[in-house]
Amino acid sequence: MAAISTPLIIALDYADLPSALAMADSLDPTRCRVKIGKELFTRTGPAAIDALHERGFEVFLDLKFHDIPNTAAAAVEAAADRGVWMTNVHAGGGRRMMEACAARLAEKRHATRLIAVTVLTSLSDDELGEIGVVGSAAEQVERLAMLAQQSGMHGVVCSAKESTRLRERCGDAFLKVTPGIRPADADGGDQRRIMTPEGAMAAGSTHLVVGRAVTRAAIPMEALTAIERAIA
Ligand code: C5P
Repeated sequence: MAAISTPLIIALDYADLPSALAMADSLDPTRCRVKIGKELFTRTGPAAIDALHERGFEVFLDLKFHDIPNTAAAAVEAAADRGVWMTNVHAGGGRRMMEACAARLAEKRHATRLIAVTVLTSLSDDELGEIGVVGSAAEQVERLAMLAQQSGMHGVVCSAKESTRLRERCGDAFLKVTPGIRPADADGGDQRRIMTPEGAMAAGSTHLVVGRAVTRAAIPMEALTAIERAIA
C-alpha cells in the first residue's frame, strides 16, 4: 500500500458492512483514510478491516482499548497484525498499560500508529468531578497527553481547541487527531465543540476525523475536495 500524506480520515459510522463499503466505494483511497468505530466493528468484525484494505484504504481502528497492560497490548497487537494504519487506547489505562502496548508494537516491528484518548469530549467538568478528577477538563487533557507521550504513544485524539496547547507541550511530531470538524457552510449537528477544517489545521491538528460532512453529502468526493481546498 502506497504511503499517503493526507490529514483526512473519514469516519465510516455505519451499522452494516454493505453500507460502509458503499460509502468507501465512493471515496478515493489515495486522498483519505477511513475510520472503523465500535458499532461497525462489533457488527461485522475484522471483515470490515479486510474489505477496506482490499480496496486500498488505510484504516484507523477506533476501538479505544482500556484494560490491564497485557490484555490491552494483546488487543493492540491483534489490530496491528491485521495491518491497520492506526489504533487507539484510553490514556486513563495508565503509564504501564500504554508502555506495554508501545513495547508490543516495537517488539513485533509493527508500524501501526498508536494514539491515546485523553478525556472524552462528552464529559463536563462536573461529570469529571463525579469520577474523582480534580481540576478542569483542559488540565486533565494536558496531563494525560504528556503521560501518553512519555509512555510511547504517537499522539492523542483531541479537540481542535486543545491542539494549540498540546503542540506547545508535546511538539509538532506528536499526532493530534481531531474530530468535530465542520466546513464553514455546514450544520453543526450534535457536535458541541466544532471547528472548520482550516481552523483545526491552523490550530495544530495533524489529522482531521470527518464523518457526516462527507458521508452525508450528495457527492462525498465533492465535499472532500472542498475540504482539501480549504486546508491547502
Ligand atoms: O459525523 P462527525 O464528523 O461528527 O463524526 C465524527 C466522528 O468522530 C464519529 O465517528 C465520532 O464517534 C468520532 N468522535 C467524535 N468526538 C470525539 C471522539 C470521536 O466525534 N470526541
